Amino acid sequence: MNTYAILGTVISIQTLAYIVAALLFILALAGLSKQTTAENGNRFGIAGMAAALIATVVVVLTASGELMGSRHLVAVLVLLVVAIGVGGAFGIYKARKVEMTGMPELIALLHSFVGFAAVLVGFNSFLLTPGSDSPENAFHMGEVGLAVFIGAVTFTGSIVAYLKLSAKIKGAPLTLPGRNWLNLGAIVVSLLLIVWFAYTRSVAMGLIPLLLLTVVSLALGAHLVAAIGGGDMPVVVSMLNSYSGWAAAMAGFTLGNDLLIITGALVGSSGAYLSYIMCKAMNRSFISVILGGFGSDGATTGESKDYGSHTEISPEDVAELLKGAKRVVITPGYGMAVAQAQYPVATLTEKLRAQGVDVTFGIHPVAGRLPGHMNVLLAEAKVPYDIVLEMDEINDDFADVDVVLVIGANDTVNPAAQEPGSPIAGMPVLKVWEAKRVIVSKRSMGNAGYAGVQNPLFFNENTDMMLGDAKDSVERIVAAL
Ligand code: TAP
Repeated sequence: MNTYAILGTVISIQTLAYIVAALLFILALAGLSKQTTAENGNRFGIAGMAAALIATVVVVLTASGELMGSRHLVAVLVLLVVAIGVGGAFGIYKARKVEMTGMPELIALLHSFVGFAAVLVGFNSFLLTPGSDSPENAFHMGEVGLAVFIGAVTFTGSIVAYLKLSAKIKGAPLTLPGRNWLNLGAIVVSLLLIVWFAYTRSVAMGLIPLLLLTVVSLALGAHLVAAIGGGDMPVVVSMLNSYSGWAAAMAGFTLGNDLLIITGALVGSSGAYLSYIMCKAMNRSFISVILGGFGSDGATTGESKDYGSHTEISPEDVAELLKGAKRVVITPGYGMAVAQAQYPVATLTEKLRAQGVDVTFGIHPVAGRLPGHMNVLLAEAKVPYDIVLEMDEINDDFADVDVVLVIGANDTVNPAAQEPGSPIAGMPVLKVWEAKRVIVSKRSMGNAGYAGVQNPLFFNENTDMMLGDAKDSVERIVAAL
């Protein structure tokens, strides 16, 4: 076979592998949409990524060997092994080390890599393509400009989200004067720079608008996310997920890689849809959130009020209370993840159900730090799916509930969301205070929830505080039952 026949065969195999990989990615997304099929969805995703990676490596190696000779082939092989080795080792190390509570910031960091990669691919493509007068060249340069714009916004936006989620910087929104005009100005300037860049005809001329575009987009990404605070961060995380998909799709256009375009579009559109669902669940405007808090009044931590004194209860007394209850609802939150209390919570549920108590879970859409965070933890501890209810399924039933156990939840059960002017105003919350008794597990009275808002629930007459680590407290309840 001559060189062109060999390359033709390999490229056909690659096209086939890319189609298979794209189908596997679609199956992965479909599988991940339900808990019962999520594991299979994950397997499809891994298989799709493996097929795409192997096909790409085979094509790159064959093309290098056939077109440039064996010395070039060795150099490419070494580069590939080093790149895959370093990337793979980092990925395995991080995935093994990360705690469930650290997942959101890890995901934000991974999104930033996609954004950074899109910027690098854009610069690389520009430096390798000499300018020309043709309309095709202007179109290609436009693609490069867009890839750099979306990539840079994703990169710094994700870094700021990472810093906020890992509490390395303050979670409160940054409210610069005229911040909406600043964002709008940065978007308009970026679009003008992309047009200027698309019509430049030499590397030297193009570098000026490209570098300016990069700087403006980096600043815009950081500012957009810095302006969002507290309870709205979940939407930002899923929105950055979407941006990283569009950044990958733009990199696919720049590289002429169909699979990257398909995969990027899948991630981009599913992330956008998730952001939309979360905005609806939290009664927030999608447009306001993607525009960096456009239209919000910038309230940060709310006023500090005196809600009176609280009452405390021991886990042993909670056990007595639960024994006499007919209907119990458990509303878990981020603190359950921190304490890793899902296992004793599952044991407690099993024991109470064995004693004839009706136990269900009420899950707020943004409880924890990731979409579905609580569902994952409860599934891990083998709590049956059919007793795990969404907020809307349970929110009208609390008046009939004897005891609500709030395990490490705070913002998601905060009645302050019903007070106008509060930073979480308008956000739907679990109306646990309507139950006959409410027991709240948290470590101390000093700390507020993620949004930094005081919680009047803790001072209600029908609320008792079970202070201490949630895992220890629930284990003590189980022992006392
Ligand atoms: P939070 O409002 O974050 O409150 C967590 C509670 O857990 C606090 O009361 C904390 O009090 C307690 N806690 C922490 N460690 C504990 C431990 N070891 N044992 C017992 N209690 C412990 O929780 P939430 O109600 O789940 O609300 C989630 C918040 O995060 C919302 O504001 C949401 O918008 C935001 N957010 C969500 C996401 C997603 S997608 N879910 C992403 C980013 C941000 P102590 O410190 O006193 O113990």
